[in-house]
Amino acid sequence: MSYENIIVRNENNVAVVNLNRPKSLNALNSDMVAELGKAFDELTGDAQVKVIIITGEKNFAAGADITNMVELTPEEAYDFAFSPIYNKIANCPKPVIAAIEGFALGGAMELALCCDLRIATPTAKIGFPEITLGIFPGAGGTQRLPRLIGAAQAKKLIYTGAIIRGEAAYALGLVDTLAENPLKEATTLAEDLAAKPPVALKLAKECINAADDVDLNTGVAFEATNWARLFATSDQKEGMRAFIEKRKPTFVGK
Ligand code: HXC
Repeated sequence: MSYENIIVRNENNVAVVNLNRPKSLNALNSDMVAELGKAFDELTGDAQVKVIIITGEKNFAAGADITNMVELTPEEAYDFAFSPIYNKIANCPKPVIAAIEGFALGGAMELALCCDLRIATPTAKIGFPEITLGIFPGAGGTQRLPRLIGAAQAKKLIYTGAIIRGEAAYALGLVDTLAENPLKEATTLAEDLAAKPPVALKLAKECINAADDVDLNTGVAFEATNWARLFATSDQKEGMRAFIEKRKPTFVGK
């Protein structure tokens, strides 16, 4: 499928989704977010794609497109929300990595928060400047940010609207890896993950995501069920047999 606001390419079982509105620093408008939703449907259903990277050339993105929002009524603002598609990305059954250089602000950083991992340059410019526009992050940011870095640090970023460098974001745990070339780093990691057993990755992701939502005992019970399900896969048999036979496993995704 071809898109107007994003570019999607697949290579070596890794899909790279490029946010692509460079004239407005990749600001996310409704069309771009709708295209992200379609792309994720397509990539989720494509068995050749094992890992997805979201990135932007020079800049990840400078947030939601402000020109689209200025005159919205409350009802229209509710419909403008990116959350249904962002939730789809957060729940994507494949690993999703954000590769960040330049600006990653507001709704763009909220998109990165939906990814499993965030790799950024030390000089990336990261923040939630919505407060300076008279709003606050409305695409899951008030929920995902405190879960990731704690309530106090999340409040500090959201209340002040401060834009911090990638290395400061790394110190907060908002970014998990620093790299001079985040896309290259993400691609190397993605190719490594693409060789891992996909069902185990998918069910591990379900368990870890559930940890944000449920109490410990419920989460541990959910983990036990998902863990047991793996013993119905040929990849589990292959992984353990390969260990015993002292050879490298070959996973087939079943
Ligand atoms: C629309 C944007 C934009 C945005 C940049 N542009 N960010 N257009 N929406 N979020 C446009 C500029 O208007 C300009 O267009 C061009 O991109 C280049 O930007 P400049 O401002 O000239 O660049 P620079 O001086 O380097 O400043 C970069 C910047 C600044 C610091 C990132 O552009 C900025 O503050 N942008 C807004 C960031 C922001 O507030 N993001 C949060 C949005 S609210 P022209 O035509 O003049 O060349 C949000 C809510 C999410 O994300 C919730 C959604 C449901």
